[in-house]
Amino acid sequence: MVVTGAAGFIGSHVAEAMAGAGHEVLAVDVPTRSRAGTPGITPGITPGITPVEADLATDDLTKLGEADLVIHLAGRPGIRSSWGPGRALAERDNVIATRRLLEACAERRPKVVVASSSSVYGSAGSRPHREDDPLAPASPYALSKAEVERLTVRAACDGLPAILLRYFSVYGPRQRPDMAFHRFIEASLDGRPLPVFGDGDGRRSRSFTHVRDAVAATVTAAVTDLAPGTVINIGHPEPARLRTAIELISGALGVPARIHAEDPVAGDAERTWADTERAERLLGWTATTGLAEGLADQIAWHQELRVGAA
Ligand SMILES: NC(=O)c1ccc[n+]([C@@H]2O[C@H](COP(=O)([O-])OP(=O)(O)OC[C@H]3O[C@@H](n4cnc5c(N)ncnc54)[C@H](O)[C@@H]3O)[C@@H](O)[C@H]2O)c1
Repeated sequence: MVVTGAAGFIGSHVAEAMAGAGHEVLAVDVPTRSRAGTPGITPGITPGITPVEADLATDDLTKLGEADLVIHLAGRPGIRSSWGPGRALAERDNVIATRRLLEACAERRPKVVVASSSSVYGSAGSRPHREDDPLAPASPYALSKAEVERLTVRAACDGLPAILLRYFSVYGPRQRPDMAFHRFIEASLDGRPLPVFGDGDGRRSRSFTHVRDAVAATVTAAVTDLAPGTVINIGHPEPARLRTAIELISGALGVPARIHAEDPVAGDAERTWADTERAERLLGWTATTGLAEGLADQIAWHQELRVGAA
């Protein structure tokens, strides 16, 4: 089987989980191209994982299409970085890469699990977002993911057993350096104020989802018989405010929560909120890791990194 984006945050955990479950994993990535500091595994050191360096946007992908299962987590995530010159990168690594991968899978038709994002919904209102809600992408990143979804659904209509997982703010060990909790924990450990974009009082809320839960959902979706084109929210059913996360981080580290309000990011949702009825019904899955427990886990990882670097 193939995991793309296997040097990245979610991909590295999924590759390890699949290898741990006995699969021979081709771990595909272009680590040289990823953002500085992407904290993934070093493929090759884990039994069952074979590293494959391939750029999905340009390289020949024939071999990947010959796998029995493809979990496609490669991409260019991030709303903030997708504005300006980032738009072309999101187009290349999300849209073009996915289109080429789906084309490579068209002949042998492996099961394909494709990563999408809660950002395709825009901001949630007074109820959680259901998979059939209309999409309202509000950034180049969200637009690129909406296009990834369109391409995947079209491939599914053409007979590819492809499904889509819409991840909601995943956190935990190895989280990307551009993501909020990573920046908050590092700032707290440095004794710096926490950089919070456009929301100095931390009222925004997210269906924060621990990577352990996200991986469990992904692995289950990969081995479950699902109708081609199925879309499933992978998010914690209870959204939490950013303020709550900040208080948990500062409480766990025993430092005061000092916030430095930064300019707002266009297209950043006020609230994300996952309806999880479909995930529960089709996968028997629900996120079980609470925010305090999950943040403690991520903080421990940051502390270990510092000890290792010292
Ligand atoms: N982390 C989240 O909270 C979150 C939320 C919603 C959706 N997602 C989606 O989940 C997926 C994984 O996210 P992540 O947080 O692990 O990101 P990440 O940046 O840590 O991992 C993505 C990996 O893809 C690789 N990659 C990028 N372009 C490539 C290309 N052209 N060819 C081969 N490899 C390429 C990168 O080198 C990187 O290692 C992405 O598709 C992202 O959009 C993530």
